[in-house]
Amino acid sequence: MKTLLLTATAVAALVAGAMPCASSAIDPSAATVQSQAIPEQATRRADALIARMTLDEKAGQVSQLFMFGDPATFEAGVRSGSTGALLFVTDPAVINRLQKVAVEESRLGIPLLFGYDVIHGLRTIFPVPIGMAASWDPPALERGQAVAAAEARASGIHWTFAPMLDITRDPRWGRIVEGPGEDPYLGAALARAAVRGFQGDHVGAPGHIIAGPKHFAVYGASEGGRDYDGVFVSDSQFYNTYLPPFAAAVEAGAGNIMSAYMELNDIPAAANDWLLTDVLRRQLGFNGFVVSDANGVKNLVAQGFAVDEADAAARSLSAGNDLEMAFGSAANATLADAVRSGRLDVAVLDEAVRRILVAKIRMGLFETPYVDESRTEAVLSAPAHKQAALEAAERSLVLLTNEGGVLPLAPGAHRRVAVIGPTADSVDDTLGSWVFVAKAEETVTIAEGVRRRLGDTVQVTTAPGVQLRRGTPSMFEMFKPAAPAWSEEQARAEFDRAVTAAASADLVVVVLGEGALMSGEGASRVSLDLPGEQMRLVEAITASGKPVVAVLTNGRPLNTAPLSAHVPAILEAWYPGTQGGTAVARALFGDVNPGGKLPVTWPRSAGQIPIYYSHNTTKDAANQGTRYWDEPSTPLFPFGYGLSYTEFAFTDISVGRAAVALGEPVTVTATLTNNGARAGDEVAQLYIHQRNGRAARPVRELKGFERVTLQPGESRQVRFVLTEAELRYWNAAERDWVLDPAVFDVWIGGDSQAPLSTSFTVVGR
Ligand code: NOJ
Repeated sequence: MKTLLLTATAVAALVAGAMPCASSAIDPSAATVQSQAIPEQATRRADALIARMTLDEKAGQVSQLFMFGDPATFEAGVRSGSTGALLFVTDPAVINRLQKVAVEESRLGIPLLFGYDVIHGLRTIFPVPIGMAASWDPPALERGQAVAAAEARASGIHWTFAPMLDITRDPRWGRIVEGPGEDPYLGAALARAAVRGFQGDHVGAPGHIIAGPKHFAVYGASEGGRDYDGVFVSDSQFYNTYLPPFAAAVEAGAGNIMSAYMELNDIPAAANDWLLTDVLRRQLGFNGFVVSDANGVKNLVAQGFAVDEADAAARSLSAGNDLEMAFGSAANATLADAVRSGRLDVAVLDEAVRRILVAKIRMGLFETPYVDESRTEAVLSAPAHKQAALEAAERSLVLLTNEGGVLPLAPGAHRRVAVIGPTADSVDDTLGSWVFVAKAEETVTIAEGVRRRLGDTVQVTTAPGVQLRRGTPSMFEMFKPAAPAWSEEQARAEFDRAVTAAASADLVVVVLGEGALMSGEGASRVSLDLPGEQMRLVEAITASGKPVVAVLTNGRPLNTAPLSAHVPAILEAWYPGTQGGTAVARALFGDVNPGGKLPVTWPRSAGQIPIYYSHNTTKDAANQGTRYWDEPSTPLFPFGYGLSYTEFAFTDISVGRAAVALGEPVTVTATLTNNGARAGDEVAQLYIHQRNGRAARPVRELKGFERVTLQPGESRQVRFVLTEAELRYWNAAERDWVLDPAVFDVWIGGDSQAPLSTSFTVVGR
């Protein structure tokens, strides 16, 4: 059988859509794909500066420090040129003050680059990334990150450490909340959108900031879901599952990439030459700068890789990690000596310095180093930003269950409503993690959203009922200490108060889940159960027989089966952001119809992990659901799942041509109809399966999707084109990307178990 073998380079470009999909063999010597070409003038200008820099100034350019504490203590380092970039400053006055030292008082006047974790908004907070992924709506994500960029730039920030593109198939890992979920295709689409939102159409676009996709790479597969633990994945998993979002981000022109903390197959990512140079630069064509994660260079000593900080600095720089992000002092300060002693070639240091200077030049910092402080507040408080956050929150909602169509609720039907639960009226738990600048008074909690939606004639009460507490403290409590633990007496009183409030209401909304710091960095869990006493609270409340519906705030799949035993409807709100309460109330009372879909398979139990939809067919496909004798091996909710207040149907699937030659595109269409009585959104999802070839391929793989709004009774044709980029895969035997002639099954429907299918054949030459 004649097949097509593609070079890794050529197909990495195809993954990212950078090359036309040729129908004939692709030239194996195809040049490395460049993301966005660096303007020659920027390189010349950087080189002219490099020619004037001392070795110590060069080492300073590759050193970025956290600015915790008194800004004055950072001035000397900025003045001497030993600090080239800072992070964790959001006050424009402080940014301008330090920038003035860099520009007016340092020998060469090189401006500082200010970075920050602008993850899902700065002051206007959008849903957490997993929530935005649940919207299956890249344009909404792009709009949200453009708002985040505008607020950051107006504050003096030039660069964000986002988007996080770590594909995650283990919901025990707390950082699943920060990423796109389990699927490479959805992840790639979201990556492109996020980069465009943050950066605009080029690095240096006005009102935008540099995007820094992270953590390169495969951080989301840490063993046991334990944050920072080692990752062991095959090349096949690396290329087919974990790389595509990064390839897409690079192709979209991301100006920065952050290397990951952990070891990949035993080699720490921050000093992994194969990752940072072979894959990132040669195969993906990345031409921006790479930053380490916080203390990622110094960590190489603790990881048992480097002898000391000097060794760590030289080896990570040589591997392709250009900039060190550090607390206190930078290991990279030793690089000047490394050159002087002959241990490091100055050309390697110059290359890293060039990449950072080019970023500063492209951002226009030499011409416009300062931020206009008189504009900042107006941008941060712009009403249009709140409106965008509301729309994004509405689009992120996923209706998990709705027995008997209890939702939506009739707005005029209740006189006393109780909104009960530990996250019901909590600002922090409405916003989620990585939020430091938002204002409590601008945040609409779910209790507040319900109160505003129902107006003065309805009595809305709220009570937490139980307290959520981590077993070990979160590192982020240094910014916001946890509330003191309730005493036993207080816990009893709060529980009783909540149950009494529920008993005297004629509708109860329970708002449950995890506190904001129960997911995120350093927030792994062994269990997916609702933490604490939440189920006991639900049992006490539902015992009264009052109508109860549930809303979840969380950053990872949770075991909702026990909750479903007591409550007919569950609305997944994630951490919905500044306008989250308004969005949830509008969904509960039917002003908006939830249309989000799960970006991750929802397990029944943590014992099933890893569980993901795109597993291989196996020799025993018929019994896929009975692999365990004590529990079904199927998910609780499949990837791509989400209900609606209306009914959608997919019919008439067809392919443009039943047989195509290798490399030719295939068109697949289906009809989507809204058969219900309400307008609503459905996400049309296309999945493929290659029946045979040079490797066993997944039972299904997402290769197209579109979120569609339909009025009652309305039909629309959805159309997808499958090209080489969708049909190729990385083959472990060939050690390269391949396209096989084969029969492909194709499905279109509303989740990863959609039944409507057809097939086409790719014929070899
Ligand atoms: C550590 C985290 O892993 C990373 O995602 C973040 O951007 C940096 N700290 C900076 O805060």
